[in-house]
Amino acid sequence: MILVTGGSGYIGSHTVLVLLQAGFEVVVLDNLSNSSTVSLERIAQITGKKAVFIKGDIRNRALLDKLFSDYLIESVINFAGLKAVGESTKKPLAYYQCNVHGACTLLEAMNDAGVKSFVFSSSATVYGEPETDCYHENLPTGHPTSPYGRSKLMIEEILKDLQTSDNEWKIAILRYFNPVGAHQSGKIGENPTGIPNNLLPYISQVAIGKLPYLNVFGDDYNTPDGTAMRDYIHVMDLAEAHLDAMNAIMKINTANESALKIWNLGTGQPYSVLEMVKAFEDACGHDIKYKIAPRRAGDIAKFYADASLAKAELGWTAKLGLSDMMEDTWRWQSNNPNGYNHLLK
Ligand code: NAD
Ligand code: WQD
Repeated sequence: MILVTGGSGYIGSHTVLVLLQAGFEVVVLDNLSNSSTVSLERIAQITGKKAVFIKGDIRNRALLDKLFSDYLIESVINFAGLKAVGESTKKPLAYYQCNVHGACTLLEAMNDAGVKSFVFSSSATVYGEPETDCYHENLPTGHPTSPYGRSKLMIEEILKDLQTSDNEWKIAILRYFNPVGAHQSGKIGENPTGIPNNLLPYISQVAIGKLPYLNVFGDDYNTPDGTAMRDYIHVMDLAEAHLDAMNAIMKINTANESALKIWNLGTGQPYSVLEMVKAFEDACGHDIKYKIAPRRAGDIAKFYADASLAKAELGWTAKLGLSDMMEDTWRWQSNNPNGYNHLLK
């Protein structure tokens, strides 16, 4: 059985779906601080299979001990955490408490239960602002500009120390670039609370008429159209990569090979903000209003993944392109204009 923390959230729910379809049994632990169990009900509709759901927090050691004694867990995929970059600058302690203390509590409970296979949601933000815009795993990590980013880097360092101290640990650190999109069914997707921070949820709420226009943050970057470029990756490709990474680390013979792996997950193809707007217009069939606004503090002009290591070591490569990302987001948004929220009353 696989424990997926944060499994009712955006990336977690898509990964739970992929795990169930691959034949794994799944336990989801989520405190529902940023999600609802409707995602798990939808997954059951799509797959005909149900994950066990436990409402709770990764910082609750007694709950974790009970969970590891009640279920035979082979591996843990940890999505649970807070993820809003802007909020983290206002509430740093909440981010370190939830993300770093949460990860430590979970790892301690795993250690005591003898479960030593761990897949971690990290982020391209750990590279900081290197000289190059194409990020390979062999670049040194840099200085993330937010408490959120630093919490991810701290957990990466803790995981390296843990694996060095005990070679039985098998750990995959997955550095996501910019996750977007939704399952092709249009039944599960990203469900931001309040006004979205990220580009694609914002564009799709403009498209559905909930927001009047998009602010394009800066058109004076050193890029072909002046707007910033990112490596957007479809959430289903990302979910598949978690399955591949988990399977790969579980097979490692730790006598011969290091079991601390780091893989970038991106497509290697960056797109600009205006290219994203145009692609979304093609998917939804009408114009998206936008205004050019000042640059957003902390943004950089362009970065994208060198994802060749994941291809070489996992045989994983992103299969879905820009039109899939946009069409699937639009299907989810137009079928669920209020996300899962209208179902919660
Ligand atoms: P999300 O908010 O949709 O999912 C996180 C889930 O964790 C939510 O369901 C939330 O209720 C739960 N949670 C939060 N704190 C918890 C706690 N202490 N105990 C138990 N459950 C808790 O976010 P997401 O976009 O699916 O991100 C998943 C992970 O991937 C996060 O760790 C995030 O930092 C990381 N990540 C996300 C992105 C992105 O752009 N979405 C990029 C890189 C990394
Ligand atoms: C993408 C581009 C914006 C909104 C963040 C985190 C990163 C990772 C992924 C978690 C940028 C522009 C955006 C808008 C805009 N998350 N934009 N108008 O900043 O690349 O990455 O999410 O780990 O850590 O920092 O993603 O979607 O916010 O922005 O013009 O209303 O869209 O300036 O160029 P970002 P994003």
